[in-house]
Amino acid sequence: MMSIDISNLKDGFLKEASQVKSTRELNKLKAKFLGKKGIVTEGLKGLSRLPKEERPAAGKALNELKRFIESEVKNLQKQLEAEEAKRKLSSESVDITLPGRFIPPGNLHPVTQVMEEIVDIFVTMGFGVEEGPEVELDYYNFEALNIPKDHPAREMQDTFYVNPPGTGGDTVRESDIVLRTHTSPVQIRGMKKRRPPLRFIAPGKVYRCDADVSHTPMFHQIEGLMVGEDITFSHLKGVLELFVHRLFGPGTPVRFRPSYFPFTEPSTEVDIGCILCGARGCRVCKGTGWLEVLGAGMVHPRVFEAVGYDTERYTGFAFGMGVERLTMLKYKIDDIRLFFENDLRFLRQF
Ligand code: PHE
Repeated sequence: MMSIDISNLKDGFLKEASQVKSTRELNKLKAKFLGKKGIVTEGLKGLSRLPKEERPAAGKALNELKRFIESEVKNLQKQLEAEEAKRKLSSESVDITLPGRFIPPGNLHPVTQVMEEIVDIFVTMGFGVEEGPEVELDYYNFEALNIPKDHPAREMQDTFYVNPPGTGGDTVRESDIVLRTHTSPVQIRGMKKRRPPLRFIAPGKVYRCDADVSHTPMFHQIEGLMVGEDITFSHLKGVLELFVHRLFGPGTPVRFRPSYFPFTEPSTEVDIGCILCGARGCRVCKGTGWLEVLGAGMVHPRVFEAVGYDTERYTGFAFGMGVERLTMLKYKIDDIRLFFENDLRFLRQF
């Protein structure tokens, strides 16, 4: 009787053990047979109820089963722990043979690219690079550049005033603060910092209260200045012609047209042969075959006086250009606002 029971118990245990998948399940199974109220434990307790002559054999069989289950549980425990450790390890491991995620490379904004190209052209000609503040004093933006208080460039429609005229008296004062309307104030700051001979350019952001297909409230300019003894209009022409040929190609036609700026005398505007129609005349050049690309001139003596330079000894030339406009011409873009809309389909082309 007893021996049949034991082998049934053993079969039952082995069957259940073969289905155990985790150490938690194994502990349950162990408790079921060997726990305080487990089948084997209860069997051992019940030995006293058996007839005397059956007790030794039954006791022996139960104890053997107990040891068998104990060693079986131990083996299973080891096996399950190894499997679990392996699972954990493989879930944490990295397959270094998998292809990486594609990170699209960025590129510089077209305006930045052209700005860097222009800076490089002048740096190879020996010009240094100067910077000035975008929030500027009226004095540097206008006054020291010989722009009188009633000059139209000062009107509210062009200039962003940080403290609008009228908030502290109705007249524009030299202490008034503006967003610089051009990079020319850096001429003054640069000249005050050093003595001639000097040559530098000043790239940066400028602000004007204006917006349409060819104007945005913020855009970029590059200023240039060269001062020394015996600097003439020929130097201006030579430097700017070389610049145009480096930026637009050596065959590009260049012409110097008389113009007016308060801070240069004489003043000129530089045109290049229209690169859209090959100077034959089109919508962009308004049929003239020419495109204006920059303003320039010989530094006005009043500007030298403002920085304390001897006007008998020194002469110089200055120029200023709009980077967005040059970028539009170089890449044949017809709307300036495209530069500021952050449309990747546009920006990825450069
Ligand atoms: N500051 C002028 C402008 O913004 C450009 C310029 C600079 C002209 C230097 C002459 C000399 O239009």
